[in-house]
Amino acid sequence: MKIALIGYGKMGKAIEEIAVQRGHEIVAKIDATGSLESLADQQVDVAIEFTRPDAAVQNILFCIEKGIPVVVGTTAWNHEFPRVKAAVETKNGAMLYASNFSVGVNIFFEINRRLAQLMNPHTEYTVNIEEIHHLQKLDAPSGTAVSIANDILGNSSSLKQWKLGEESAPEVQSDELAITSFRQPDVPGTHVVSYRSEVDTIEIRHEAHSRKGFALGAVIAAEFLNGKKGIFTMSDVLKITHK
Ligand SMILES: NC(=O)c1ccc[n+]([C@@H]2O[C@H](COP(=O)([O-])OP(=O)(O)OC[C@H]3O[C@@H](n4cnc5c(N)ncnc54)[C@H](OP(=O)(O)O)[C@@H]3O)[C@@H](O)[C@H]2O)c1
Repeated sequence: MKIALIGYGKMGKAIEEIAVQRGHEIVAKIDATGSLESLADQQVDVAIEFTRPDAAVQNILFCIEKGIPVVVGTTAWNHEFPRVKAAVETKNGAMLYASNFSVGVNIFFEINRRLAQLMNPHTEYTVNIEEIHHLQKLDAPSGTAVSIANDILGNSSSLKQWKLGEESAPEVQSDELAITSFRQPDVPGTHVVSYRSEVDTIEIRHEAHSRKGFALGAVIAAEFLNGKKGIFTMSDVLKITHK
């Protein structure tokens, strides 16, 4: 496949390495000083977009306009999702977005949904989410933590919204799900969901050891998207079905 990288930072470079290992050709590398217009003049099978929250939407819309399928890893642009979805539908385009491309995290998402269903009747437990990332990360909470939170909210009768801040104490009844964000040197991404009661704690945890897992998932997603039309997620790639 001929792949264009939109964003050539930590993730763009990690994706390049994996894509070349898997036999693909990188035909463009565009950073903040580069021009998207160069993509219109060449054959690109799939673009992979890992830039920054305030740049993602215009990059995605450009790809859709030009008929280039686009895999999107940039997080924190979800409020613009309806506009992007409308553009994909109007142009009969192709987009795959994941807040986290790691295979392990997508399995973790499924375990989180199932655990939330099991815990829903047990109101003596208080659930909290903790996420830890490297110091350069621009958004907080992480897109992955927001996905985890939305899956818990979708399976809870008592929680109505998530909030960024201090974790909730077990004795406090609240309809808010707390997400606590920490920024530490050299942490690719750690997420913990814990349910605490007076008598015990249940915890599930995913810890990325490097960016390789995200990069591999993004390349597998690009291979999946090539030749398809519509909007997809990693659940489609990994054939994880939600119950
Ligand atoms: N979904 C996932 O699995 C996953 C995993 C890891 C990270 N992420 C997300 O991916 C994004 C990028 O992460 P990163 O660690 O690679 O960040 P990074 O190292 O800061 O790299 C960002 C890159 O985007 C470029 N850029 C900025 N504005 C641009 C624009 N308008 N057009 C084209 N390129 C532009 C930057 O160029 P300059 O260097 O010239 O500024 C840089 O090359 C973040 O939103 C992060 O949260 C997602």
